[in-house]
Amino acid sequence: MILVTGGAGYIGSHYVLYERNRGNKVVVLDSMVYGHRGAVKDVPLVVGDMGDRLTLDRLFNKYPIDAVVHFAAFAYVGESVTDPEKYYNNNVRSTLSLLDAMRQYGVRNFIFSSSCATYGNPKYVPMDEKHPQNPINPYGESKFFCEKIMNAYDKAYGLRYAALRYFNASGSDPDGNIGESHDPETHLIPIALQVASGMRDKMTIFGDDYDTPDGTCIRDYIHVLDLAQAHSLALERLRDGGESSYYNLGSETGYSVREIINVCEKVSGKAIPVEMGPRREGDPPRLVASSAKAKRELGWEPKYTDIEAIIRHAWNWETNRKY
Ligand SMILES: NC(=O)c1ccc[n+]([C@@H]2O[C@H](COP(=O)([O-])OP(=O)(O)OC[C@H]3O[C@@H](n4cnc5c(N)ncnc54)[C@H](O)[C@@H]3O)[C@@H](O)[C@H]2O)c1
Repeated sequence: MILVTGGAGYIGSHYVLYERNRGNKVVVLDSMVYGHRGAVKDVPLVVGDMGDRLTLDRLFNKYPIDAVVHFAAFAYVGESVTDPEKYYNNNVRSTLSLLDAMRQYGVRNFIFSSSCATYGNPKYVPMDEKHPQNPINPYGESKFFCEKIMNAYDKAYGLRYAALRYFNASGSDPDGNIGESHDPETHLIPIALQVASGMRDKMTIFGDDYDTPDGTCIRDYIHVLDLAQAHSLALERLRDGGESSYYNLGSETGYSVREIINVCEKVSGKAIPVEMGPRREGDPPRLVASSAKAKRELGWEPKYTDIEAIIRHAWNWETNRKY
C-alpha cells in the first residue's frame, strides 16, 4: 500500500487518481492546510500533519504501507523569501520526521516531489540532471536539503528514493472530476483562465524585456497526469530493486508567457486583458527541462504533450470547478 502525503493537493490528488485507476491501494495523509476534501474520492484520508509523530505511528501501524510518495510541502516561492521558517520547518523538518518514521517501520521506498527550483539560475537549457544545483530561494533550498538528506539516509540506512524534479505542473484530469485549485493562485495557466472566465478582471505579465523572442519568460509545462505516470514508474523501479536516483520531469518544450496567454485565449474563446508589470526577482528568462533520463531509465512516455490539450483540460476544470 502506498502512503501519499499531500494527496489532497493538486499534483498529489492526480497521482492518487492515477493509481486508483490502476487498482492500486493508497492512503492519503494531508493536513488540509491547502488540500481539498473533494480532491480525495473514495480512498482513505487521514487528516493530520506529517511532522506529527503520533499521526505517523497511527498510520504505519494501521496500514500495510511499503512505499511513501511525498507531495506534502508548502510551495510559494515568494512567501519562502519573506517567511523562510515556515518553509524550512514544514518542507525540511517535517520531511525528516516522515523519513525517521519510515526508518522505524522498515519502509524503504520513497518518491519525493523535488523541483527545478533546486537548480537556481540556469547555466544552460535544456537542463539535464547534471546541471549544478544552486537554489536561489528558501523554497528551492528546502527541496535541495531534502535531496541531500535522502542521499545520506540511502547510504546510512538503505532508504531507496527517486527525487522527481518537476518543471511547471499544469492541466487537470481530462474527465474534470479534479483539478488545480490553489489559494492564492500563482500559476500562469489558471490565472489566465480565471481572467477568461471572468473570475478576475485582468492579469499581470512580470517583465517583457527578457532576452527571449517576445521578451517574456519561457517555461516548460508538463501535464499533471504525465507527472503521475512518472511517479508510478519510479515507484515500480524501486520496488523492483532499482537504485536511488533523480529525474527531471518536463515536456522539453518552452513556451513564453505571451504564447501561453494566446493559447488560453484560443481555447477559451475569450480575450484576456493583460497589464505589464516589473520583472520578479529571481525569475530566470528561460527554464526548459531535458527529461531524457526519465524516458530512458523509467520508460516514461508523456501522453499530453500538446499545450492546447493541457490548457483545454485546465479550461474544462476552470469552467466546471468542483472545489
Ligand atoms: N505545482 C508545481 O508546478 C510544482 C513544481 C515543482 C514541485 N512541486 C512540488 O510538488 C508538491 C505538490 O505541489 P502542489 O502544487 O500539488 O501543491 P498543493 O499545495 O496543491 O499540495 C500540497 C498538499 O500538501 C499538504 N501539506 C502541506 N504540508 C503538510 C504537512 N505538514 N502535513 C500534511 N500535509 C501537508 C497541503 O495541505 C496540500 O494539500 C509540492 O511538494 C511542491 O513543492 C510543485
